[in-house]
Amino acid sequence: MRISINKIILTIILGIATVVPIVAFSPHFASTEFEKMNALETQVLWGIDADNIYDNIKVLSKTPRVAGTAQENKAVAYIKKQFESYGYESEVQSFHFNSYTPPQTLTLSIKGYSQRLQPIAFEYSVNGDISGEIVAAGLGKMEDINKLDLKGKIALIQRGEITFADKISNATAKGAIGVIIYNQESDTINASLGDTTKTSVPAVFLTKEEGDDLISHLKKNPGSIGQLNIKGASFNQNTSHNVIAIKKPVKLNNSTNNIIVIGAHHDSVAGAPGANDDASGTAMTLELARVLRNISSDTEIRFVTFGAEELGLLGSSHYVESLSEDEKNRIVANFNLDMVGSKNAGNLILQTIDGKPNLVTDLSQEASEKLNGEPTPFNQGERSDHVSFAEAGIPAALFIHHPTEEWYHTPQDTIDKISKSKLQDVAEIVGLAILNQIVSENQSSK
Ligand code: BES
Ligand code: ZN
Repeated sequence: MRISINKIILTIILGIATVVPIVAFSPHFASTEFEKMNALETQVLWGIDADNIYDNIKVLSKTPRVAGTAQENKAVAYIKKQFESYGYESEVQSFHFNSYTPPQTLTLSIKGYSQRLQPIAFEYSVNGDISGEIVAAGLGKMEDINKLDLKGKIALIQRGEITFADKISNATAKGAIGVIIYNQESDTINASLGDTTKTSVPAVFLTKEEGDDLISHLKKNPGSIGQLNIKGASFNQNTSHNVIAIKKPVKLNNSTNNIIVIGAHHDSVAGAPGANDDASGTAMTLELARVLRNISSDTEIRFVTFGAEELGLLGSSHYVESLSEDEKNRIVANFNLDMVGSKNAGNLILQTIDGKPNLVTDLSQEASEKLNGEPTPFNQGERSDHVSFAEAGIPAALFIHHPTEEWYHTPQDTIDKISKSKLQDVAEIVGLAILNQIVSENQSSK
């Protein structure tokens, strides 16, 4: 904690002045800007200390924090303890998700066919050891398959037009016991069936060259028998967590009943310490919770760190699904802080899912204009937890620096790449944006 003479003087002034303009010196913004600040604004802006954010990032980014691992649990316990040290009650909301371990062995052989095949498993391919006649089944659409007899056979299907999972379920509906899908282009793809529950028969993927050659072999040798063996794939249920701290509203006459959610994801991808992605947003959420603690308002403020963002926004979508209709209607803004402190990334931008402004971008632009002389620009983006809120009709925006640092999602995303001045800047913009919203609400409800 920085304690300066200025802060001591400020504390004395704040003791006697409530919402009157004061003139003082601040290291973070020009004195002319500062003159326009009122006492609450200075309380928030002077309270935000990038050193605290930095120190929490340092603790959180000692290891990767993959959802469902002991390292995530450790981070969750630390975040909860920090919220509690600021005087909040903190709740851990746990949720389950399915994880998939790919097969250890995978073989596909065809009697009378000498080309060596190198099949790959789809993400979510199921195990099986089957043998049967291989039948070419076009693109695997119902109209391709309807006239075919696939009972007890292996369907050979070209990629394209419909999803892999739909091709497999169409073939299975006609009795196929296995499916081979081959590429129609020479690209390499990350082949996934999209969902853990979609398929029940073993399925593999081949290159375009392998598939084309197999098709011409079948033309010359109809009735060829294939053997497909997938071993060692497993589906497991796993648990991740959201950490929630709530700043309760102070009841005023005609209270608004509004809620603001400030959030960030605390999980990381495997192998990445995730100092910027997203220990930075997590630690900034903690610092805003600390600083806003003693600002009384009739708006409820929820500070939430989400688990399993990197696995598909799982924590935030679980959180939003767990809300009642009434709560969803009362949430007026979601501030999503994700990757907010890299030295090596570009400037701050806001992202909304439709690229249009909303209450969050309006408030933040007003705040950034006041602090930095220009409003933070915004554009369209759907790569983080604000999506879960926006899809439920809640005004939401992501705070991120653009372009992204080159070591995003790598082991190099470490504390030494974090910029305290970027942390201070983003936290002040968000802090001021929130303060202006809750102050204007207090006034409008009087
Ligand atoms: N922090 C990133 C999102 C991000 C990165 C947004 C760079 C804009 C620029 C986030 O943690 C992430 O990696 N998201 C995934 C998508 C998610 C749905 C799994 C991504 O972008 O690949
Ligand atoms: Zn992220």
